[in-house]
Amino acid sequence: MSNNMNKAVDIQINPRGQLQHLLSTEGLPRELIIEILDRAEDFLPAGGRRIQSSGLLSGRTVMNLFFEPSTRTRTTFELAAKRLSADVLNLFMESSSRTKGETDLDTLLTLQAMHVDMLVIRHPDNGATTEFAQAVGEDVAILNAGDGSNAHPTQALLDAFTIRRHKPDFTQLKVAIVGDVLHSRVAHSNIHALKTLGVPDIRIVAPPALMLEGADTLGVQTYHDLATGIKDADVVMTLRLQHERMHEQRVTSLQDYHRDYGLTRSNLAPAADDAIIMHPGPINRGVEIDPEVAYGERAVVLEQVTNGIAVRMAVMAMIVAARD
Ligand code: CP
Repeated sequence: MSNNMNKAVDIQINPRGQLQHLLSTEGLPRELIIEILDRAEDFLPAGGRRIQSSGLLSGRTVMNLFFEPSTRTRTTFELAAKRLSADVLNLFMESSSRTKGETDLDTLLTLQAMHVDMLVIRHPDNGATTEFAQAVGEDVAILNAGDGSNAHPTQALLDAFTIRRHKPDFTQLKVAIVGDVLHSRVAHSNIHALKTLGVPDIRIVAPPALMLEGADTLGVQTYHDLATGIKDADVVMTLRLQHERMHEQRVTSLQDYHRDYGLTRSNLAPAADDAIIMHPGPINRGVEIDPEVAYGERAVVLEQVTNGIAVRMAVMAMIVAARD
């Protein structure tokens, strides 16, 4: 990890211990993560009730700035901001002045001059959102909506929220993260969040060519064999094969990958009978997961999407409270 990414730990929390940016789950204190999950419960009460709206961001402006495609993260951030009564703007990069050569930093400084309160940013470069947070100082809150393969903190927080609703005691859990971990910001952020929340048994299951780098320093166990890696797991989270980040061939054939690592009904047999099945989306149907599993009785894939609204509301509400 570069010095820049380490800086995320230093600058996302203010001297009073409050959240001022959200850049990474690495170094995020347990109390803050629990506070985010508890606040999200207020916005999405258990029992199937609808998202609770609030005026907490009335008069504030939130801008979505996505340099990479997104369906669920961008729209749930927008919904979350609107449910909190913020004014919401979306800058679409393909029609922005970036196409005329404006740099990302100049784009950011231009938006800062419009007195936006929060910038929700997805960027292909590792560490980009931390650099942006350093550039804007305390004037604008930066929310990392995914930077390269580095971090996707709100995804990890909504995953933790979803897990807690089904398996309330993190300290009793076996969690298996399966698939293209090498390119996965979701995996990195989940490992940090789940470790901080006290999950004692985190397994990474991947073929050698897609294995997490530095797994030994993260305190997780690694497996190449799916059946061994998910044995008795309470949570099985699989990840998308990220072809767009593969600069060389890492999978010999999608059929072989599906046979060896795909979440099919039969491949899932070694997991605990009541295991929940997670995927951050978007899914490659029939590659890392079968549709009958992704939308089956043990799947929480669509719950993850709904929960993302509440968790993103919680993060934004806490950041605004810290700035007031
Ligand atoms: N999980 C996730 O980040 O999905 P999107 O790319 O659709 O935002």
